[in-house]
Amino acid sequence: MNLPENILESNTRLSQSILWKLQHDAYSQFGIDAWRKHGVPAYITSNSYTAKKYAQVVLGYVRDCVARSAIELAHPIYLLDLGAGTGRFAYFFLQELTQLLAASSLPKIKLCYVMTDIVSSNIDFWQEHPYLKPYFEQGILDCAYYHHAQHDPIHLLNRNQTLSKESLINPLILVCNYFFDTIPQDLFRYKDGHLEEGRITLFVEDEEPVTLDPTVINRLRYRYSYQPISSSQPYYENNALNVLLESYAHMAEGCSFLFPVGALQALSMWMQWSQARLLLLAGDQGVCTAAQICQLGEPKLSLHGSFSFPVSYQLIVDFFGQHDGLTCLTSFPDSTFVVMAGVLGLTNAPETLLAFEEHIDSFEPTDYFRFVSLTENEWKNPPLDHILLLIKLGNWDASVLLTFFAAIRQALPSASEEQKKMLCATIERVWEHFYPIGPIAGDFVLNLGVLLFEMQCFIEAKTYFERSMLIAGVNAAALKNVAACHQMLGQLEEAKVYRQQAALLIAPDSH
Ligand SMILES: C[S@@+](CC[C@H](N)C(=O)[O-])C[C@H]1O[C@@H](n2cnc3c(N)ncnc32)[C@H](O)[C@@H]1O
Repeated sequence: MNLPENILESNTRLSQSILWKLQHDAYSQFGIDAWRKHGVPAYITSNSYTAKKYAQVVLGYVRDCVARSAIELAHPIYLLDLGAGTGRFAYFFLQELTQLLAASSLPKIKLCYVMTDIVSSNIDFWQEHPYLKPYFEQGILDCAYYHHAQHDPIHLLNRNQTLSKESLINPLILVCNYFFDTIPQDLFRYKDGHLEEGRITLFVEDEEPVTLDPTVINRLRYRYSYQPISSSQPYYENNALNVLLESYAHMAEGCSFLFPVGALQALSMWMQWSQARLLLLAGDQGVCTAAQICQLGEPKLSLHGSFSFPVSYQLIVDFFGQHDGLTCLTSFPDSTFVVMAGVLGLTNAPETLLAFEEHIDSFEPTDYFRFVSLTENEWKNPPLDHILLLIKLGNWDASVLLTFFAAIRQALPSASEEQKKMLCATIERVWEHFYPIGPIAGDFVLNLGVLLFEMQCFIEAKTYFERSMLIAGVNAAALKNVAACHQMLGQLEEAKVYRQQAALLIAPDSH
């Protein structure tokens, strides 16, 4: 039976669709639960592997700037993370970059990483996160409200200072992960030699009237229509965007393409603010060449509590080209996650380009992600050594250890002493590259303790059971495990106390 179409919006220019209000409302209402509960994707952008690679490119860029005396060392270099989400990327990235800068021969650089978002509860979450606190205290980290279409100065909450065009002394670094695919885009098609505007009709298949709140997003259906646009009037107010749009007149007949207007407007503003001296590091689902854009066909909305559209990176590259910028894309871009670097204000940037080639192009985030997935899908029980190497390759990526927890545990009884030693060291490194976003992460830390316990490392296991309670709160399972560690260490009195505490939590009324 075909359900009736309940039309929410008809034939609307894509960048003016109600979609964007729904997007705004979804992120605002969900807050950090967007990632804890609603399944907004973040793994590929926010793991310690990707963060390390980005940090290397930023180091290359700082080297290029220092070599050309383009930095005033008395003033900070601002790094803005647009739509910073959970803060996981920021944490991993700062871990890497601060170490790299300290170990390099560069002069002392004042760094200020600013996490931004439209969602005030996300900003509260970062400010209260114990792992971010040291960076806030050192003044390396700050946070601010920022909307992609904003032109007003940005208020840095930690410093209680304003960041504006005037106060930006040094070149700017922008991190845009899963940002351009979140903010408004337009749709176009060339047909019979004319540019047509793509319009969207949104509906749900439902008999009942629907309310326009974020719960509707996962049920959205859509179709596109096209309308010729007048060639006598400029389409965008910003003429650089019209020039860019015109340059796509060469697109194949009938081929529709997304125009990342939100991204380009935001970049235009940052370009002005920084006096065209910036590094962009961006990653999204996307396409990179005219052929790929055509192949993509009409854009699909990915629905995940919020939604996203693929980004035509070719257009972002062309935007940089318009402003004499330098750009890098990878040699084999994968549409699931395209990474791009763009530089404005330097006629050459050898260290940046080299770092991109060495650290991103050589084995990009999707390569690593696919490598992990292949191991998981094709190999029922990968050997322990293989798993440990995979975790190491991933810069001690905690999610890989979580993925293969059962396989590691199964391998333990027959593991050699050497392998156990390596597993202990791996657990310690993974802990250093771990950023919890909710109490459920306590289970993972508890499991690290379980592995250590099974290797008879009782002191270390106890530490992890205690760490798990710092994240998940005091609970009977962790207390019993702490008791078991004391028992195995011959500390019988302590074991008894912890067992009693666990019993109280299991049956509080019976005591
Ligand atoms: C898909 S998430 C990406 C989060 C993070 N960068 C990552 O890679 O996981 C998009 C982020 O942008 C924020 N956001 C959504 N719409 C925005 C807008 N119009 N302007 C600025 N930020 C926005 C959301 O609150 C969210 O933090």
